[in-house]
Amino acid sequence: MKGTFVTFEGCEGSGKSTQLKLLSARLDEAGVDYILTREPGGSPIAERIREIILDGKNTAMCDECEALLYAAARVQHVKEKILPALEAGKLVICDRYIHSSLAYQGIARGLGEQYVASINSFAIQNCRPDLTIFLNIPPERAFARKHGADEDDRIEQLGLAFHTKVYNGYLSLMKDYPEIYPVDCSGTKYQTSDKIWQLLAEKNIIR
Ligand code: TYD
Repeated sequence: MKGTFVTFEGCEGSGKSTQLKLLSARLDEAGVDYILTREPGGSPIAERIREIILDGKNTAMCDECEALLYAAARVQHVKEKILPALEAGKLVICDRYIHSSLAYQGIARGLGEQYVASINSFAIQNCRPDLTIFLNIPPERAFARKHGADEDDRIEQLGLAFHTKVYNGYLSLMKDYPEIYPVDCSGTKYQTSDKIWQLLAEKNIIR
């Protein structure tokens, strides 16, 4: 593959959206050929699957269905958008990817990391991230900063106990997945943005 694939992970309220906006501005300024995309979603079909997954009215959705829908959205996104951009030599930045499924569905939902990994190895078509940046902030601090969860979002509604399991899930994934690099987010948004930029430079992803 000619391009480079970088994914961002973190708990709710970790400041991921803010960091992606700051990164995008810096990449624009540096003239980097990149795309910014997100999961679940990133392509028209995957965005429609996203609406079903996150719809607060879908309280009857079982965990297995949730895991398979995330994987279904992912494979469509990979084939329609991520792989073509990588083949064209671009830098692809994706807001969440397979490690979200491992942490949320595999570990926090309790479906099993290996089980969710196997569904996803079919979904990602061998398209693994070169680098995964984990925005490291414990959920109690993230929620306090965000002033609570979004009431219309089925996953955000799950509460602190669930999101603590997600956070601990990410910490344990770091042992098995060497592509994951934690970035401490306890400083200002500009300090975190500088750390991310530095990491991308260290990895020769930007020059
Ligand atoms: P979103 O509003 O994009 O949240 P965030 O800004 O925190 O990224 O909603 C995505 C939600 O889906 C989020 O709660 C994390 C969850 N998710 C999973 O549970 N598994 C997955 O594989 C992915 C990609 C996301």
